[in-house]
Amino acid sequence: MKAFVQTFGCQMNEHDSLRMKEMLDQLGYERVPSAEGADLVILNTCSVRDLPEHKVYSQVGRLAQQKAQQPNLVVAVAGCVAQQEGKTILKRYKVVDLVFGPDQIFSLPEMLAEVAQGKRVLRTAWLPRDKKIQNFIPTEELDHFTLEGPTGNIAITKGCDNFCTFCIVPTTRGRLVSREPENILAEAKTLLQKGAKELWLLGQNVNAYQAGEAGFGELLAQVAALPGLMRLRFSSPHPNDWTNRLTDLMAANPVICPALHLPLQAGSDRILKAMHRDHNQAQFLDKVAYLKDKIPQIGLSSDIMVGFPGESEANFQDTLKVMQLVRFHQVYAFKYSPRPGTKAKAMGDDISETEKASRLEQVLNLHERIRSEVLQAEVGNRHEVLIDAAHPREQGVMTGRSANYLPVALQDAQAEIGDLVQVRITERRPHSLQGVRLD
Ligand code: SAH
Ligand code: SF4
Ligand code: F3S
Repeated sequence: MKAFVQTFGCQMNEHDSLRMKEMLDQLGYERVPSAEGADLVILNTCSVRDLPEHKVYSQVGRLAQQKAQQPNLVVAVAGCVAQQEGKTILKRYKVVDLVFGPDQIFSLPEMLAEVAQGKRVLRTAWLPRDKKIQNFIPTEELDHFTLEGPTGNIAITKGCDNFCTFCIVPTTRGRLVSREPENILAEAKTLLQKGAKELWLLGQNVNAYQAGEAGFGELLAQVAALPGLMRLRFSSPHPNDWTNRLTDLMAANPVICPALHLPLQAGSDRILKAMHRDHNQAQFLDKVAYLKDKIPQIGLSSDIMVGFPGESEANFQDTLKVMQLVRFHQVYAFKYSPRPGTKAKAMGDDISETEKASRLEQVLNLHERIRSEVLQAEVGNRHEVLIDAAHPREQGVMTGRSANYLPVALQDAQAEIGDLVQVRITERRPHSLQGVRLD
């Protein structure tokens, strides 16, 4: 039996997909890289914007054609679209056998057994959220956890309480729950024993983590102290919950990588307020100034949204202004997309598609210019690179990341995945750096 798990969306979905692949391994499935020839296909979906949601439905359409030729094909829809649209999907798409939400992934074996009995299964119930601290990953699962590359991803929170007015995540992932520190540390140790060099702590709003007295900073310090861990990263933090104390901790602790994803969304105070982001431009810039002062090599990245309801040209110019001041190393930019059930949807989608497209292009052009300047300025510098893959097209070239998360390619047949290599940067490639080994 062959299984293909296709992932859309964020790192949390990647993480959930890996957990599902491990359960399928246990059930005797072979992992295959595409739907073609698979007996089971699980689409782990994302509904954060219209576009990823649409991709899911076109994939469901393709699978319907495949099932016409291959009646035994089992099709499952998981993730955020499943949580939101579960019943409708099952009703509308006869090809789908199983629909389940993010809280149900550990029941996968049970649900597949029901499908094998000829049932069509819908499971989108939430696990209880009343207790704010929970072990939402069963401890007995830890032994089966596997790694893809040198990095282990650990979910430390699930859900989100922020209710930014544009965002569907609190609806699809539920209210915020923090995982017990002992459980997190047990997983971290397991992954290190299995060969992880880097750990990545995950949550929709990761720095809202709170377990009794212990907040995100205490947890970071505890994980960073584990023997054998070379690098510690996390995502996605929220600017409101990023404190100067966390900057101090990052500056003082060599295991915590000097890289931070700080989603700006918009530069204008009026739009930030309408988004319910709870910070203004000046507060964001103050946090960035403190970060740059304490950690000069800091690699900052961000998410930017254009065309939020009511965003004027002057409001948009504020976004460009902040981008110019901060000079993010990486920017993910999106056109605002109204989502069902969100507050922003009721505000009307009044910025035209043409205007959104034009603003998006301006953001991307500015980012491209800043990024190439950032990369150019690295030529001649020294970096420690964690090798994470072989280059997909270039023979003998290995790729990895610097501590501040710049992508580096290395012509070095000796380098292996998981090696930490001292590198001198020799040139800038279009979207990355190239370097030579120093030792
Ligand atoms: N928790 C993270 C964001 C998770 S969603 C945070 O607070 O920043 C990832 C990104 O998708 C967001 O940062 C935002 O830029 C984008 N996004 C979310 N909802 C969107 C929507 N309705 N339209 C367009 N982009 C959206
Ligand atoms: Fe969505 Fe806001 Fe929560 Fe991020 S912090 S997941 S944008 S509600
Ligand atoms: Fe998408 Fe759900 Fe992640 S909506 S971004 S897969 S939390």
